[in-house]
Amino acid sequence: MDQLVIAGGRPLAGEVEVSGAKNAALPILCASLLTPQTVVFNNVPELRDVGTLLRLMRSMGVTVERKSNRVTLNSETTGKPVAPYDLVKTMRASILVLGPLLARFGHARVSLPGGCAIGERPVDLHIKGLQAMGARIEIEHGYIVGEVGRLKGTRIFMDKVTVTGTENLMMAAVLAEGTTILENAAREPEVVDLGECLITMGARIKGHGTDVVTIEGVQSLHGTEYTVMPDRIETGTFLVAAAATGGNVRLVGVRSATLDSVLDKLVEANASIESTADQIRIRMRGPNHGVSLRTAPYPAFPTDMQAQFMAMNAVAQGTTVITETIFENRFMHVQELRRLGANIEVEGNAAIIRGVEKLEGASVMATDLRASASLVIAGLIAHGETVVDRIYHLDRGYEKIEQKLSRLGAGIVRRSVEEM
Ligand code: UD1
Repeated sequence: MDQLVIAGGRPLAGEVEVSGAKNAALPILCASLLTPQTVVFNNVPELRDVGTLLRLMRSMGVTVERKSNRVTLNSETTGKPVAPYDLVKTMRASILVLGPLLARFGHARVSLPGGCAIGERPVDLHIKGLQAMGARIEIEHGYIVGEVGRLKGTRIFMDKVTVTGTENLMMAAVLAEGTTILENAAREPEVVDLGECLITMGARIKGHGTDVVTIEGVQSLHGTEYTVMPDRIETGTFLVAAAATGGNVRLVGVRSATLDSVLDKLVEANASIESTADQIRIRMRGPNHGVSLRTAPYPAFPTDMQAQFMAMNAVAQGTTVITETIFENRFMHVQELRRLGANIEVEGNAAIIRGVEKLEGASVMATDLRASASLVIAGLIAHGETVVDRIYHLDRGYEKIEQKLSRLGAGIVRRSVEEM
């Protein structure tokens, strides 16, 4: 098991290139199941979650070829529309194969994702939507078992905004008979990217990026070559790391338009931001003011950036409040940040952060993906050495993070525990 060892206290400086978006790549890879023809995806990040999904694809008989960030898939002879528990349990996003499998093959067996470190995270809305489209769905021995002749288009209202739920139903609807209207759909940029990719495969979709997505079903989709959008959460994470260390960093290959709420908060924290469509430069103007914020579905502040801002606020002037409205139990980084000297109190879904003069290096343990990112940022700010354990969480979602941070001047190395 790997650890990151961080020598804190160095401001980040220089230029770094952002990778493809994990949360766009995962649904887009699943979209390959919708056609018997070959699809090619570029800018697919080399991440553990992507590896898990590709293993799942192979286990279903899909031919997968991966050359660094380019993945070629062909599911012409896929014979086994089954997503087993041991793969799904390590990555909830595996549920994204359910819609495509039902749409193309008329049957699917996908393990229920089960519990997860950041709260309940049910998939009832995925199931309800598919049932509304005519699928018979039973839960058998921990598996979602679905059967249908051909899915039928219909109007579906989702009473909670769900990102993968919207994506699953969009993928199901592209091959359905007639028109599907998804109401209260997620507007996240990754949903838009999936929509754009599906359109290049011959799908007829309108309104992706708004809360009403209309999909007119077609008989079949064809192959495509598509480039995955840049990762806005990775971008945001590097921006916060730069701000928190009082650095001066240029991020390239980004999509600035997807980061409005994050950039806005960084300016409030006293950063100076210069951006073009695909580059962002960040510098601090003076002391870190910290920012209060509240997570909510896009275009509001993303839950996936909350933990990173908390690390920055830990050493800001004054008191700030971070309110989490998407997931319960997404404050597991708090107790680890406290080990570094942060003064944070949790009351229900709010964390109250009283800025301290400095954090001090210590050993901490990553608990989930974004919590890990917050611990890395805290380690970069802290005086002395911080050891972040269980970084397999980090490897799920950040491509070559220690190499990218090293290039910006951070003192950070990976070591495997066996070496010690
Ligand atoms: C996606 C992202 C994740 C991000 C989250 C919120 C991917 C692969 N993951 O996760 O990084 O943190 O969006 O932006 O894209 N819910 C239900 N029933 C359902 C589905 C969801 O009640 O059937 C609830 C969830 O418990 C949660 C809320 O809806 O409280 C939002 O979850 P959702 O948007 O579905 O998150 P994911 O798509 O799993």
